[in-house]
Amino acid sequence: MKQQTIKKAIIPVAGFGTRFLPATKAQPKEMLTLVDKPVIQYIIEEAVESGITEIILVTGQNKRAIEDHFDRNFELEYRLKQKGKKKLLEEIDRITNLANFVYVRQKTPLGDGHAILQAKDLVDKDESVAVLFGDDIIVNKKPALKQMIEVYERYRDPVIAVERVDKKDTNQYGIIDVVDDKGKTHEIKGLVEKPDPKEAPSNLGVIGKYIVTPDVLEALSKVKRGKGGEIRLIDGFRSVVKKRSIYAHECEGTRFDCGSKLGFLKATIHFGLNHKELKKDFAKYLKSIRI
Ligand code: G1P
Repeated sequence: MKQQTIKKAIIPVAGFGTRFLPATKAQPKEMLTLVDKPVIQYIIEEAVESGITEIILVTGQNKRAIEDHFDRNFELEYRLKQKGKKKLLEEIDRITNLANFVYVRQKTPLGDGHAILQAKDLVDKDESVAVLFGDDIIVNKKPALKQMIEVYERYRDPVIAVERVDKKDTNQYGIIDVVDDKGKTHEIKGLVEKPDPKEAPSNLGVIGKYIVTPDVLEALSKVKRGKGGEIRLIDGFRSVVKKRSIYAHECEGTRFDCGSKLGFLKATIHFGLNHKELKKDFAKYLKSIRI
């Protein structure tokens, strides 16, 4: 059987999560829970369901809870065993064995591109990797990353996940310029970071999932620091877009932007309504609310 080429995913999780203060004062924003599971676990499960076997988390200060979450906890396991809580024990064990976890630290917050570069030495010279930001959860039977990997397998070029956004919101996203606006997969002509609606080349906004090829990673390592001394991933793509093909893919599925409070609330409602034990009672409760 042909081996899938994308085996590793880099997930930058070093950010401070200021939008969620004070909830994130003493805990990572990635550990905020949607019903009973931290956001980061949804992202990692999507990666694993897409065939990823190695998860590289780029962490920073105050992020130890993430490492502990995916590590063994002997005392907890012992107590669950003693109490005969077999199902919970299995679930705890499953989380630990989801993938091979690797951690690197980003010592200074110098942008998402800088975070990704901290993992560069963990990627083979000829290897393409997935990059997933911790905010975007896409719910779909076939995971969004799997859809992107299929595009990669077809072209062997970098792939960026995009979504149609409201024209008035283009200043919140990287916006792409496409060669031909047909179908769901578009060749990219250019990328503009957070343009004013008047200047936006399209309404296709970059969402936090990418497939990065070795040349893009190399180009990223040569990108000059921009605003605030930061290195941004989008600049890595921008520096090669005139020289090589890059594809944008509109993934099938419902996206929740868990980096915003409203998106987080919407996701909570979605996962509540789909939760095995809660869905009936939760739906009943929601129906009973008068707004
Ligand atoms: C980053 C990217 C931007 C992208 C966004 C998606 O911006 O630079 O191109 O649209 O993620 O989440 P940030 O939201 O980190 O400022």
